[in-house]
Amino acid sequence: MGRNTKNRPPRKRSPSKIAANQAARDAQLEKRQASKQYHLLSCFPGEFLRCKNNQAEVQTTIAANYNLARLRRVVLPKDDNTTFLVPVPPLTDKQKKLVGPAMMPRILLSRPGFTPQANAWVEEIGQVPFLLARFVDVLTAEEQSLLYEAYQEFLAANPSRPEDRGKNRSDTAAYHFCLWAHYKLAAFITRDSLQLKLKEPHRAQVLTLLDKFLSLVISLIVPRLSLLVNHYAPQHIAFMAPVYEKIEAQFAAEFLERPALKLGPLFFAVAVKHGSSQYIHLDGNDFQALWTFIVVISSKDGKWMGGDFFAPQLGGRIPVRGGQAIAAQTKILAHCGMEVHGEGRLVLTCFSHNAMVAKALFGPPKERRKAVVVG
Ligand SMILES: [Fe+2]
Repeated sequence: MGRNTKNRPPRKRSPSKIAANQAARDAQLEKRQASKQYHLLSCFPGEFLRCKNNQAEVQTTIAANYNLARLRRVVLPKDDNTTFLVPVPPLTDKQKKLVGPAMMPRILLSRPGFTPQANAWVEEIGQVPFLLARFVDVLTAEEQSLLYEAYQEFLAANPSRPEDRGKNRSDTAAYHFCLWAHYKLAAFITRDSLQLKLKEPHRAQVLTLLDKFLSLVISLIVPRLSLLVNHYAPQHIAFMAPVYEKIEAQFAAEFLERPALKLGPLFFAVAVKHGSSQYIHLDGNDFQALWTFIVVISSKDGKWMGGDFFAPQLGGRIPVRGGQAIAAQTKILAHCGMEVHGEGRLVLTCFSHNAMVAKALFGPPKERRKAVVVG
């Protein structure tokens, strides 16, 4: 169960010592998830199996179908230190006509670029079995401090302002690091990762600090999430395996020069921000068959409240404390972050752009461009 860290300042340890302790931590991680609560839905929340990406429509639909004022007061998990799991409920016959295996839209499965072999492969993998999972004790207080401080050092070096990619979700911009994609283009390294507007030697200093932060994401967060995903949703890993292979080959030179940009195999991009995405939205850039991971980090002396993950279609909000993570199908579930009071909270959203995944899995964009936009 959870550790009482509130009254005890975290001991300072070097990243190498923390890495040495990882094997022991990994072994404990499954034990820490032992206390589980399942939240069963009576039917699949299928409002958005057709419409996507238009956030105004998402908000109108949710407001028309759910009593938001009441649901915001409903806390779903019984307590803060329980693994909380929402299994995917069975689809109705009508919904089955819209999506195939692994929540893949029928329209995408029927595109010319989608071969019978690819169809069989998606059928075999099946879908991620949980719409949402909240995992506890993913990061210790010391690990959160390391990540938080590394990010603060990056900000203190005066990097370029973040490229604004999420105006319809939040009033505050997030940095987007590592790999992104566009429907018409190959995957690319984000501008926030390259900092090309800065002059040398300032740029080199900023990139050193950024890579230090990203290296901590790779060494502390990725292995923990991998263990959990392997246990709860191996379909996610199976889906990402061929994507990872192609991305590794495409960016071999860049990864050699900057290994910190190689976040795989669970995800290829990380968005970082202090605030929350407070407007109800769908993550249109995510891939519907995969989980997106939201990892909350608390600074050593952070004092904050709120920031719960609110998902009206699930019937309420899910508190997420420092060191915990939400894994959710955020292209299917409408959601937002509730207001945060206080300082010292950082949110990392880890995902892969849907165009990157679709291109790696199903072929060139020319053959499936329209289908992916429909999502
Ligand atoms: Fe989101």
